[in-house]
Amino acid sequence: MSNDAKMIEPLSGALTGEIKVPGDKSISHRAVLLSAMAEGTSHLSGVLDSEDVRSSISAVTQLGAKVDLKKCTDGSLEGTVTGWGQAGPVQPESSIDCGNSGTTARLLMGVLAPWPIEVTLTGDDSLRQRPMRRNTAPLMKMGVQFKPAEADRLPITETGCSDIRAITYDAPMASAQLKTAVLLAGVYADGTTTLNEPAPSRNHTELMLPEYGVPTTAGTRVAKVEGPTVMHASDLKVPGDPSSAAFLCAAALLKRGSDVVVRDVSLNSARIGFVRTLERMGANISEHIEGYEGKEPYGTIHVKFTDALRGCEIPSQHFASILDEVPVLAFVAAHARGVTVFRGVSELHNKETDRVKAIIDGLELMGIDAWEEAENLLVEGNPNLQLPCGLVFNSYGDHRIAMTWALAGLCGNTPVQVSDFDCIAVSYPNFIKNIQKLVS
Ligand code: S3P
Repeated sequence: MSNDAKMIEPLSGALTGEIKVPGDKSISHRAVLLSAMAEGTSHLSGVLDSEDVRSSISAVTQLGAKVDLKKCTDGSLEGTVTGWGQAGPVQPESSIDCGNSGTTARLLMGVLAPWPIEVTLTGDDSLRQRPMRRNTAPLMKMGVQFKPAEADRLPITETGCSDIRAITYDAPMASAQLKTAVLLAGVYADGTTTLNEPAPSRNHTELMLPEYGVPTTAGTRVAKVEGPTVMHASDLKVPGDPSSAAFLCAAALLKRGSDVVVRDVSLNSARIGFVRTLERMGANISEHIEGYEGKEPYGTIHVKFTDALRGCEIPSQHFASILDEVPVLAFVAAHARGVTVFRGVSELHNKETDRVKAIIDGLELMGIDAWEEAENLLVEGNPNLQLPCGLVFNSYGDHRIAMTWALAGLCGNTPVQVSDFDCIAVSYPNFIKNIQKLVS
């Protein structure tokens, strides 16, 4: 375990008041990438300033887009992106380093697909261990070449195809990154590109593409684009990230006396499965839609301390809507009466780290029984949980795992340490500062 473990002290009081979370990571990536593809200058605001989004910004800059995004007082990025449009991206001088960001690497594969340039994509140690064939396979069917052709891991060299073919593809798993790559490639193909998925994954791409002038169908388990289309610039305000809000909600639920409203957060139903799950656990939580940014709903989530949480079962067809929230939900489940069953979680083995293993390790350290059975994760909660002193959690360098174990210190009875805590810069650099602002 790395030496730069951070000591996290228990919060000195309840969490109360209103707060905004930083911009949604998925929408921020797409805002940068779609604007880079478009003809003209897009104006973006509320963009998340995090290491992952910076990977997308530097990638499109290497490819010739002009990015002028400045930091605002609230920490978000605002400004313009001038895309390459019909001229296409330029041949970059070196390989593109996607850092820790799976979204940058997998979405870029679709962005690059229709252009006859040769680009090598790589990433950090974690990203170089994550599967990529799920994206290269459908893109190869569309005419794109990858070297090595059979590669499932970065680095991979992609050569796009100026005569890209429209396809109908049945995705083997519900993955928004796979779906998005195929749809973005399909923008330049002649005809209808159709992506069918086994369960609904997040639909930000389908909701955003029409804003850039692309005729798109956003169905429940099907998405289609009509090509070829010239994408035009758009103006977009990114709502807050529900995946970041989930950590504040969990803290408020578990810290006695808390009453918190998270404002201006995306309430896209494909992203707030955690609210539905917490409701089923008996949590005092609700959301309220206040408006739409384009087709994306946003509004508030109101959450209060809840004394008697109970375990529940989350069927596999709901897994995609809690995909990034399983670590924090498993942590809440550790405080609930009875067993919580997360069904169909095997995709979590492929995240920034093996999240199933990371969750089970951390919960066991807390004295909680958690295990994997077939494709399911089970957590047996203890409503009277008291942590032993001196716990040191391993984040495995994964931002969502690090923030989950930070909650053990913030909401628990004793300080804890979390290794590699700086990795939270990938999605929520000010997490600790934000949560402390709410302490009454
Ligand atoms: C994302 C899709 C999900 C999610 C990731 C962001 C996206 O991954 O886990 O954090 O922005 O499209 P998969 O597409 O691999 O399911």
